[in-house]
Amino acid sequence: MIFSTLNSSNSSLMNAPIGFFDSGVGGLSVWREGVKLLPGEHTVYYADNAYCPYGAKDPDEIIARSIHIVDFLLQHACKLIVVACHTATAAAIDYLRMRYPVPFVGMGPAVKPAAQHSVSGVVGVLATRGTFKGRLYHETLAQFATDVQIIEQPGDGLVELAEAGQTDSDEARALLQQYIRPMLDAGADHLVLGCTHYPFFIPAIARIAGAHMTIIDPAPAVAQRIKSLLMQHNLFNTSGDDARHEFFSSGNLQAVREMAGRIMNNE
Ligand code: DGL
Repeated sequence: MIFSTLNSSNSSLMNAPIGFFDSGVGGLSVWREGVKLLPGEHTVYYADNAYCPYGAKDPDEIIARSIHIVDFLLQHACKLIVVACHTATAAAIDYLRMRYPVPFVGMGPAVKPAAQHSVSGVVGVLATRGTFKGRLYHETLAQFATDVQIIEQPGDGLVELAEAGQTDSDEARALLQQYIRPMLDAGADHLVLGCTHYPFFIPAIARIAGAHMTIIDPAPAVAQRIKSLLMQHNLFNTSGDDARHEFFSSGNLQAVREMAGRIMNNE
């Protein structure tokens, strides 16, 4: 009897959605990899674009926003939450893990694979100012990047352009030239994307970098991490229901609709 009670409550948890959040549309680059790898899972996505960008905000403000959003996702019964934002991960994930019992997956700058595979020994990192200031980034460098030269470039302005759907506009191309060209001139052969908005610029970046640079988007590795946590907690959705994806926004839902539409049309 007890066994059947536990079993039925676990099956409703298994059928619950995975929550994702970001300051805006950026986390959709992570959501895209998550649904590709785990097509049987329901998802709830929250874009906090009324408060976007997070990049230069005080960490306390980002923690307060993260609490508000996690409460919302838990009201939607999410079984696991992906902090699909490097800046929010840097500011808030330690606090969220202490406050809530639900498993969290965060974003980490993928400096390790870049440093391991770099032949030139020069690696570029494009991220927000908040991510560069975070403890996580500095620990990652100290652990994995002592043998390579790191060129840090804040991607000011790129988040706003991605929110406006302008990932290949003249303005986007000019900013990317300004950010990527000095890295290429310094011999960087890997570029780490340390903000979830930036993968949407990959086609434009690739045209600037040509074959000289490997661009690293951590989202596929994060999707693998989601999968292994679901496995570890016995939370895979085995219902066989069609996956349901819900999107919410504190501001501009149209931006989310357009970016999600672009993703679904491409793939
Ligand atoms: N997608 C967020 C990140 O990964 C963007 C931060 C921002 O809003 O500035 O850092």
